Amino acid sequence: MNAFESQNLPAYPQIGVASTCRSYREYMDMFGLNEADLRGGPVLDVAGGASSFTAELHGMGLDATAADPFYEGDREAVIAAAAEELSVSSLKVEALRDVYDWSYYGTPERHRTMREKALARFAADFRKDIGGSRYVAAALPELPFADGAFRTVLCSHFLFLYGDRFDERFHQEALDEMLRVTASGGEIRIYPLVTLKWDISPIIQNIMEYVRDRAEPFLVPGKLPFIPVASEVLLLRKR
Ligand SMILES: C[S@@+](CC[C@H](N)C(=O)[O-])C[C@H]1O[C@@H](n2cnc3c(N)ncnc32)[C@H](O)[C@@H]1O
Repeated sequence: MNAFESQNLPAYPQIGVASTCRSYREYMDMFGLNEADLRGGPVLDVAGGASSFTAELHGMGLDATAADPFYEGDREAVIAAAAEELSVSSLKVEALRDVYDWSYYGTPERHRTMREKALARFAADFRKDIGGSRYVAAALPELPFADGAFRTVLCSHFLFLYGDRFDERFHQEALDEMLRVTASGGEIRIYPLVTLKWDISPIIQNIMEYVRDRAEPFLVPGKLPFIPVASEVLLLRKR
């Protein structure tokens, strides 16, 4: 569906950037990842929010880190804010029930249950990470990690989605930094490539050109049907 066709769909109502809590399973399906991809070296989840992805990788014995400005401050207050966001976003999803594709989640109730489980898993791991080594308070376009520190760098539901608040220059600087911390031969995956109004982001092609000297860009099919327009995953393989 193109930008013109998506104009009749109600936009997702959002003030500020929400801190949502997708699960490991959602990440694997969204990004089209398999476990072997993740066993190849350290994994970074940029804008990780209250996702349980890092917790679940840690439980599997993998080297995983999440970065998000959301992790700053009192841990219980962060968890409470994520729980509040889940209540609010579940009501929004219910209100937009007819807009979404339910072939993956089944029902809004099942969607909420998956997220509640993911939030509980995140909260337990976040409480244990006393020194903040797994959950690092950091905001793009700056990441406090060494050059080439990660084999896989993921970003779910932040870049491109909030394009009305973060301009093309911000996206260039964010990609500069994500590429800096990615090892040569490693990968960055970003999903979705739509805005909150369900238009395909107008800056995708420019960003693919912008990084081309440092990474080979690919658009690969997303494997988690839900949002009302099909979105591909942007995959950047660092040269
Ligand atoms: C919609 S949530 C996505 C959370 C998680 N990745 C998921 O898919 O469930 C967007 C996240 O982006 C984070 N964020 C906001 N500004 C950011 C920045 N400058 N750099 C990195 N993350 C940022 C927010 O704190 C929030 O947790």
